[in-house]
Amino acid sequence: MSNFKLEIGKDNIANLTFDLKNEKVNILRSDILLELEKELDRLKNNKKIKLLVFKSAKEGNFIAGADINEIKDLTDEKEAINKVKKGQDILNKIANLPFTTLCYINGSAMGGGTELALACDFRVAAESEKSLIALPEVKLGIFPGFGGTQRLPRLIGIIAALPLILTGKAIVAKKAYKIGLIDDYFPLKYEKTHLDKFIKRVLDEKQKLRILKRRKPKFLFLQKKILKDLIFNKAKKNILKQTFGHYPAPLAAIDVMRRTIDLPIEKGLEIEHKEFAKLVIGDVCKNLIDIYFTTEEIKRNKGSKENFKLKSFKNTAILGAGVMGGGIAWLYSKLDMSVRIKDINNNSLALAYSHINKIYKELLKIRKYSKNQVTNKLSLISLTTANEGFKNCDLMSEAVTEDIKLKKKLLADFEPYLNKKTIIASNTSSLSITEMAKSLKNPERFIGMHYFNPVNRMPLIEVIPGKETSDETLVNIVSLCKKLGKTPVIVADVPGFLVNRILLTYINEAFHILSETAMVRDIDEIACEFGMPMGPLYLADVVGLDVGYKVAKVLEKSYGSRMQVSKLIEIIYNDLNLVGKKNNEGIYLYKNEHKFINDKVISLCKKQKISDADILDRLLLIMVNEAARSIDEKVVSAPNMLDIAMIMGTGFPPFRGGILKYADSIGLEKISERLKYLARKYGDRFEPAPYIVKLVKNKQNFYN
Ligand SMILES: NC(=O)c1ccc[n+]([C@@H]2O[C@H](COP(=O)([O-])OP(=O)(O)OC[C@H]3O[C@@H](n4cnc5c(N)ncnc54)[C@H](O)[C@@H]3O)[C@@H](O)[C@H]2O)c1
Repeated sequence: MSNFKLEIGKDNIANLTFDLKNEKVNILRSDILLELEKELDRLKNNKKIKLLVFKSAKEGNFIAGADINEIKDLTDEKEAINKVKKGQDILNKIANLPFTTLCYINGSAMGGGTELALACDFRVAAESEKSLIALPEVKLGIFPGFGGTQRLPRLIGIIAALPLILTGKAIVAKKAYKIGLIDDYFPLKYEKTHLDKFIKRVLDEKQKLRILKRRKPKFLFLQKKILKDLIFNKAKKNILKQTFGHYPAPLAAIDVMRRTIDLPIEKGLEIEHKEFAKLVIGDVCKNLIDIYFTTEEIKRNKGSKENFKLKSFKNTAILGAGVMGGGIAWLYSKLDMSVRIKDINNNSLALAYSHINKIYKELLKIRKYSKNQVTNKLSLISLTTANEGFKNCDLMSEAVTEDIKLKKKLLADFEPYLNKKTIIASNTSSLSITEMAKSLKNPERFIGMHYFNPVNRMPLIEVIPGKETSDETLVNIVSLCKKLGKTPVIVADVPGFLVNRILLTYINEAFHILSETAMVRDIDEIACEFGMPMGPLYLADVVGLDVGYKVAKVLEKSYGSRMQVSKLIEIIYNDLNLVGKKNNEGIYLYKNEHKFINDKVISLCKKQKISDADILDRLLLIMVNEAARSIDEKVVSAPNMLDIAMIMGTGFPPFRGGILKYADSIGLEKISERLKYLARKYGDRFEPAPYIVKLVKNKQNFYN
């Protein structure tokens, strides 16, 4: 046995230590589970053992869960049932050992790791930053299949179990103790003393009873069926509200728990593995797993094969204290970097500071930070209208108004006030990085670092190297994005880069449809039903019709007629001077937290009828076409990178796997036919992109 080490002490306390060879973390691969099974079969006949402790030899990790590669490969329902049932059987062997079992969670316990812990009689955890406990399966489109939906609600009650299973959120040891998931926790550095003490308590009948009594699920009145139904119905309603039913896993988890909570556990496990198997072979699961692997790929990509010494980025500066400048400043201060913000306008500086303060206040409210921490972070921010005080900057983020002349002049004027090694990153949404770099004496330290709005919520950063950008600058910025907790996708320096280039076609098309139909709500609702987080017209209001208009104009100039800005936007922005939500008037009117359709806009539109199918395809296939062009022009390295950028930058529904995955799932031949139909009916912009034509001809799709 090489992955499990068994030690039996003189006191007949046994330790089974999991140490997966050649891996940083322990994973419950099939072969490892079989090895564990053999070990358990042998142990069960050992009459001497009084208590068995499961632990891990990995620092900061107990068990990372099942092998996601194996989950991804499951495509046959019967095979899936056999596989997950085998896992259940092995954990049942732990539950049925003839002596007491204790799981010592001395690091993160994810998915199958937590389920293994649940199969033991007792659980304790080390209190450390890394000791997180979670059942995150739902994030991969499945639910816990090794007994998690059975043992957890039986242990801690359904009220506490539901959020853990339905959100997949990780909890710390203290919280796990509070809800009764673990029986004790202690600081990692005193583990030996505390573990020995806990073992003594468990072996003493009186003290053992006390431990068991503490963890009894509260709210015993919930045993009543009517109350249980109420809870499960409410959970289902909440999930449907959040997901519009697009994610089957949380709904299936609720259904399984509802059907099994009062059954003997063996019956419950049978229902669990049968329902698990249906989910694991489904498209949503496969799409979410692909997204997971893409994010892992991004974590590994440094931006260059060459190795460079990484900068520490202690001191930063922001030029332009607008919506984006304020958000970026907040992010840097959150990571304890000092931030000096410069603007020409004192009012903007004050607004940016109050914006930063507001984000911290929200975090204070949910106890993410203490008052002291917030005070310290705010003290890192300084505001100025002067050019002085920037010489020690490691990074300067430029976020002034979207205007190439202004940006170029500002960069040229400001460069002498920085040191030669300061990396300068532009947050431009659409302008050429290479062009802007021409105004600098040291263009190799200039790069695009395009954040998305709101910075505190959106996970994507497009990283755009210009022609002169050095690999050293690129590697440093890619690494910084990761430290900031963001996902960097490297894209080429083309107008609108990747995400805005594709997204703008969708918003622009919505305005074309609106001008023909006056169907504001239908357009937004059809997009939301597909899974978009908000409809394109509401999104235009949220982004700001002024911001959107400027970017749309840049794209129209660069890409020509297929990106021609809708006449309706021109009138709404130029003649009616509407800017959207920030001034309470755009496509919608915003009053007292409600939104109403703006009649001024409707009066500009014709009232033709268009089918829902045409509306949806116009919105989506115009994006597919532009995405195909972007891949063809190598704006991004691969289809999965385009898909992740659209998911993280626009909220394109993850369960669909991305815009290209969606197109593949329909079939490119069908997509091409629909595009031709739309081109005949609505205009040349729908003519299938040459790359789609080529793929159809070769009987290929985007992903192969
Ligand atoms: N708003 C968005 O959703 C969004 C998203 C991503 C990127 N961007 C990009 O970020 C940049 C800023 O956008 P924003 O929405 O924050 O704009 P904004 O209009 O809210 O803010 C721009 C700020 O720049 C300041 N400014 C103008 N000239 C200046 C100068 N010479 N020196 C110093 N400051 C000056 C203005 O006073 C203003 O405070 C733009 O390039 C934009 O394309 C915007």
